Amino acid sequence: MANYALHGPDSAMDQSDAFFNKHRATSSLPPSAFNVGNTPLLKLDRISKNLFGKAEFLNPTGSVKDRAAANMLKQAIESGQLVEGKEILDSSSGNTGISLAAFGTAAGYKVTIVLPSSASIERQRLLNLYGARIVFSDPMEGSDGAIIVARDLASEAPERYFYIDQYSNDANWQAHYYGTSEEIWRQTSGMITHFVSGVGTGGTIMGTGKRLRELNPKVKIIAVEPSGPFHGLEGLKHIESSIKPRIFEPNFPDETVYVETEKAQEMVKRLAREQGVFAGTSSGATVLASLKYAAHEYSHVVAILADQGSRYLSEKYLQEQ
Ligand SMILES: Cc1ncc(COP(=O)(O)O)c(C=O)c1O
Repeated sequence: MANYALHGPDSAMDQSDAFFNKHRATSSLPPSAFNVGNTPLLKLDRISKNLFGKAEFLNPTGSVKDRAAANMLKQAIESGQLVEGKEILDSSSGNTGISLAAFGTAAGYKVTIVLPSSASIERQRLLNLYGARIVFSDPMEGSDGAIIVARDLASEAPERYFYIDQYSNDANWQAHYYGTSEEIWRQTSGMITHFVSGVGTGGTIMGTGKRLRELNPKVKIIAVEPSGPFHGLEGLKHIESSIKPRIFEPNFPDETVYVETEKAQEMVKRLAREQGVFAGTSSGATVLASLKYAAHEYSHVVAILADQGSRYLSEKYLQEQ
């Protein structure tokens, strides 16, 4: 893990710690919900000289969604919306559900996650492990199908459920506006030229992008989406053919790069074999999308590595050499 030491957490910790630890002493949330963020910035110099990966897979439950989940739960509890006896409800392609289940169950809440039944077995097992009740939705309907089922459950039993709705929840992007952006700014000593992130709810790219643009309006914000409606880039959305998340503004990114699933999968293997980093399929997509920007002489490109590769080990492409 030699590269981890190069751009480790530093005084960025002051700011995001203050944001994340506001009510730590009195919160019903577990300590792990307060150990979110301050992830390392990895130098991906075997892939490209000016390329860095923000290791979000090193968050407590293994993905970037720990940030959004922890902040959405804190806001809901502190605002009095989420009270004892209420059941936490959301739809997810997996990662947000895993974070909500981990933090919510340990805080004493029941957690129900609507999940497309096509989600990998690793995700289903992690949801079970963290005590979530899974409601499966039609795999052909993807994450939109899960959103619709969750909305129906919430409207049928409003007294029972607290519907977090990560696609419309401001606490989602705010976790990145106050956390991820500040860390990246400090870890790059303000030299970042391009920020590259996948789009699922849009929380990561909107929150981080908004703050980085305030810090330096020249920073290019690059969105990464699957190349079509039917894809294997778990967690990402092909916005044009999907229910648009309320928190995502399609005109906000400077550019959008569309990536084919197979190409992203090839990059996952390159990252493992050339960098010793095993991240998920959407990370393969953000690194691939970053190459043309990292080729510029004076660029300093940061790509989000959203989750752990181990969540995909059962997938066919990782069975092949
Ligand atoms: C693996 C993965 N990558 C990227 C994202 C996109 O993150 P966001 O929802 O902040 O747009 C997600 C979201 O669920 C994800 O699970």
